[in-house]
Amino acid sequence: MKERNKTLGEYIIEKQEEFKYSSGELSRIINAIRLAAKVVNYKVNKAGLVDIVGAAGEQNIQGEDQQKLDVYANEVFIQTLINREIVCGIASEENDDFITVHGKAGDDNNKYVVLMDPLDGSSNIDVNVSVGTIFSVYRRVTPVGTPVTLEDFLQPGDQQVAAGYVIYGTSTMLVYTTGHGVNGFTLNPAIGTFYLSHPNMQYSADGKIYSVNEGNYIHFPQGVKDYIKYCQMEEGDRPYTSRYIGSLVSDFHRNMIKGGVYIYPTSSKAPNGKLRLLYECNPMAFIAEQAGGKASDGYGRIMEIKPTELHQRVPFFCGSKNMVAKAEEFMAKYK
Ligand code: AHG
Ligand code: MN
Ligand code: MN
Ligand code: MN
Repeated sequence: MKERNKTLGEYIIEKQEEFKYSSGELSRIINAIRLAAKVVNYKVNKAGLVDIVGAAGEQNIQGEDQQKLDVYANEVFIQTLINREIVCGIASEENDDFITVHGKAGDDNNKYVVLMDPLDGSSNIDVNVSVGTIFSVYRRVTPVGTPVTLEDFLQPGDQQVAAGYVIYGTSTMLVYTTGHGVNGFTLNPAIGTFYLSHPNMQYSADGKIYSVNEGNYIHFPQGVKDYIKYCQMEEGDRPYTSRYIGSLVSDFHRNMIKGGVYIYPTSSKAPNGKLRLLYECNPMAFIAEQAGGKASDGYGRIMEIKPTELHQRVPFFCGSKNMVAKAEEFMAKYK
């Protein structure tokens, strides 16, 4: 670690004025997420030793079996935000409905909503592979002083004021953007402090990695099948390398550092794809664009989709901009 590295705490204070509304609330939200991330990290690191691996015995609204760590991370992030009384609402992959949060005086004066995937890649917990947390922050659209409504959550991604993820990997990192580029902070577990380790993260325009669950190939749309064959063809800098962890956060993080494209398309089994627009695709799209990358549903920009429901799913093509553009070219042939 370089001695001169800033801590995340110092960085948040320094950047507060850069944020256009500059009331300090957004900084406090990032601070709350920083704290919750450390609590979840502590638990993830002990998984296998304490009773935190395995299924919780319930299903979430999306019909997925909840893992114990899904439930735990969900509670930690929600409680940390509620206790600080800094947001007016929270929506989570693990909750059927959004949660209304009141301000310090029992009021509805808080301005921001947080949407999150508290534990991404849950199927990887039991086998000691990296998992993550994804979050997205919007300013409410309904008047301050009135209770938060569904409308405050169903905003297109281009209205996000902040988004980020935590990756609980070989090291734990918090990566986020407030619309002024992307910065990554690595946790020093000995003292529980995040340090700025990856300033101004950038996607290279081209890359050599493609990440897609090829086991579903037979069910993919023809455009995706053709793009996969293109990736495998021997020509120029191809064939590309295939890398798929099955944790969006980990696959995205690797591709942002090394250059690559992540695809979770529609399939005959999942006609809208699998990933959730509000908790997964929009925040990752915001980070991708802020890092010079691109995020699409195969035909157009993810962040321009007007959501119609909380748990909406969309196909997702995200990564190095020329690779995503190439995949779109193949998709357009069958539109
Ligand atoms: P979550 O664990 O939050 O439900 O998300 C799982 C997602 C995502 O992390 C990953 O990229 C994808 O599911 C993997 O799905 P497949 O196993 O179908 O490839
Ligand atoms: Mn899930
Ligand atoms: Mn997820
Ligand atoms: Mn999840």
